[in-house]
This record gives sequence, structure tokens and C-alpha cells, in this order.
Amino acid sequence: MPVPVIVSTNYKGGVGKTTTSRVLAQAMADDKAFNRGKPVLVIDLDPQGNTSRRWQLLKTCENGTRIPKPHPKLENDTVPYSSVCDLWLDLLELGEPVAPEPYETANPLIHVVPAHEEQMNEVMLVPKASREKLGQMMRNWLRDVGAKPGDRLVDKYCCVIIDTQPSKTPLIDAALTAATHCYIPFVPEPQPVEGVYSIISYVHSLSSQRSGDIPLELLGLLPNMVQSTRLHTLHLKKLRDHPVFGKYLMPVKLSRRIGYSETDDWRNTPDQVTDLEGTQIEFEARKFSKHLMNKIAAGVVMKSAQKEAENV
Ligand SMILES: Nc1ncnc2c1ncn2[C@@H]1O[C@H](COP(=O)(O)OP(=O)(O)OP(=O)(O)O)[C@@H](O)[C@H]1O
Ligand SMILES: [Mg+2]
Repeated sequence: MPVPVIVSTNYKGGVGKTTTSRVLAQAMADDKAFNRGKPVLVIDLDPQGNTSRRWQLLKTCENGTRIPKPHPKLENDTVPYSSVCDLWLDLLELGEPVAPEPYETANPLIHVVPAHEEQMNEVMLVPKASREKLGQMMRNWLRDVGAKPGDRLVDKYCCVIIDTQPSKTPLIDAALTAATHCYIPFVPEPQPVEGVYSIISYVHSLSSQRSGDIPLELLGLLPNMVQSTRLHTLHLKKLRDHPVFGKYLMPVKLSRRIGYSETDDWRNTPDQVTDLEGTQIEFEARKFSKHLMNKIAAGVVMKSAQKEAENV
């Protein structure tokens, strides 16, 4: 079994893709039974670089764009940093593709592959014929295709989490091609709920196109920024009762709480955001994360059993 790859996605902006993926990474890093001592790898696949900034991994160039900070292991290289775009250097006409070099963070159990704003924007413009290659390269890397024994991600990491950008782009397609699981954070209000239906359909169509690869499992819809207002209650009920999409609604939610924005402030030092303990968000963030971890772990057990049965 390869390392589980979880994508946080929603084409709508500001619904909590970055925040929920961060609290999930923190909870996984804290859960010894889940991580078994292996770090979580977080990939920032959003050119805005909010995840990378959160972990203070970007520096601003003179022209105002942000690039990854120098990587301690790459100090003597011509290009002293790494980003997810290293997978696509040939498409960018910058050389041979290489596996990204994750950065360590203040939390030893969270590693991050940062965004490269300019290269990501460029990669999204590759001709249509090459777009499929984005996902293929990413999938091959995350499935350890051709990796040397010491370099296999499945041996190094307990899980991979990918934070994505708002709007439907070739980068999101790449993430969903490489993903084993995805979840959709959303705010229970009219427009966002409509958008969620179309993403679920899209995830299903992508999943059904997979052949010979492990299926893409939709972990569910995560209500975020929930308030006890009539509007939110009504939309959650509508979704719960929906004959097709109701079953995807997660039995957990995140409320609108100032603690999320406070711990989201990139001016905080990284250790100020890795610790959920004692914050008002700890309980519900842990409940959401535990729900996802249980689902992922159950899927791994089931697939391993299936594989064993096939081999008998
Ligand atoms: N449950 C919550 N309660 C209060 N604030 C929240 C909550 N979830 C997220 N936020 C805040 O809302 C803002 C948007 O959240 P976030 O950046 O995670 O959304 P996003 O979907 O990643 O946005 P984008 O589409 O721009 O990438 C952030 O300032 C974040 O701190
Ligand atoms: Mg974001």
C-alpha cells in the first residue's frame, strides 16, 4: 500500500481548505497510534502559498513574488530551494524533474513542500496535451514508482496532505490524480453548497476513470465556520436530507471561532501554531481529525485484507 494522500479541496475560496488541512496535520502529528513515529508531509499546491507562509518557508523577491527559502540540504546547489514544481522542471524547461525535498518545521513530525508562486502559475499554462503529465508525475512520486528503497515516501511518512487553491485548475486535477482520499470543507450557505455538489460529481467522474490505480475515496463534506444561525441550520439539514449527497456529510463540524484565525496568523512563530492543546479549537479540531484518521486507517486495513485475499 502506498502512503495515503489526502487532498483538501473546494473551488470556492476562503472556506477553510488551508486551515482544516493545518489542524489535520497537527492532529496527525500528535497521534502516535496513527503516525507511528513517522512525520506527516504537507504539500502546498496553492500558488498563494498560505500553507508555506504559515510555516515561514517563503521569502519575497525584489519583484514581489514569493519563492521558497533556501533548503539547508541544497545550500550549495545552483537553485538552493525546493518546491512541488521540481516534479515538473521539464515542462517548465528548467531541467530534469527531481523529487521535491521536503522542509523540516518546528514540529519534527510535520514536513512541508512549499509553493513556488511563479512556477506554479507557469505550470498551469502548459499546453493541454501536457497537462495530464502534471498529475502523472505527482502520482508516480507519491506512489513511490521507481523510488530507491531509502527514498520511499511510504517508509518515511505516515500520510500526505495536499492543500489546494480555489477555482478549478490543472493543479487541482494533478492533486486529485495523485490523491487516495479527498475531503471538501464548505460553509453551509446557499452558493457554497451548490458548488459542493459539482465537486462531488467531478470527484466521482475522476475516480471512475482510474484504472489499475487505487480508487479515490471521498472522505466527506466538512461543515466549517458553522454558526448556530437559522441559515446554517437550514442548509445543513437540507444537505443531510439530500437523497444523493446527504451520505457524504461528515458527522463532525468546525464552528466559527476566532481561535482559527489567531493560530492562522503567519506572523506567529511556527511553534505557536503547532500546538492545539488548551485552545478553544482543540476539542472539535481533534474530533474532526480523529474521524478522518479512523476512516483512512479502516480503508488501509480493508485494502490490505483484500490484497492478501487476492494473493491466496
Ligand atoms: N472555523 C473557522 N472559524 C473562524 N475562522 C476560520 C475558520 N476556518 C477558517 N477560518 C479563517 O477564514 C479564513 C479563510 O480560511 P482558509 O484560508 O483556511 O480558507 P481557504 O479555503 O484555504 O482559502 P483560499 O481559497 O483562499 O485558499 C482564514 O483567515 C482562516 O483563519
Ligand atoms: Mg487556502
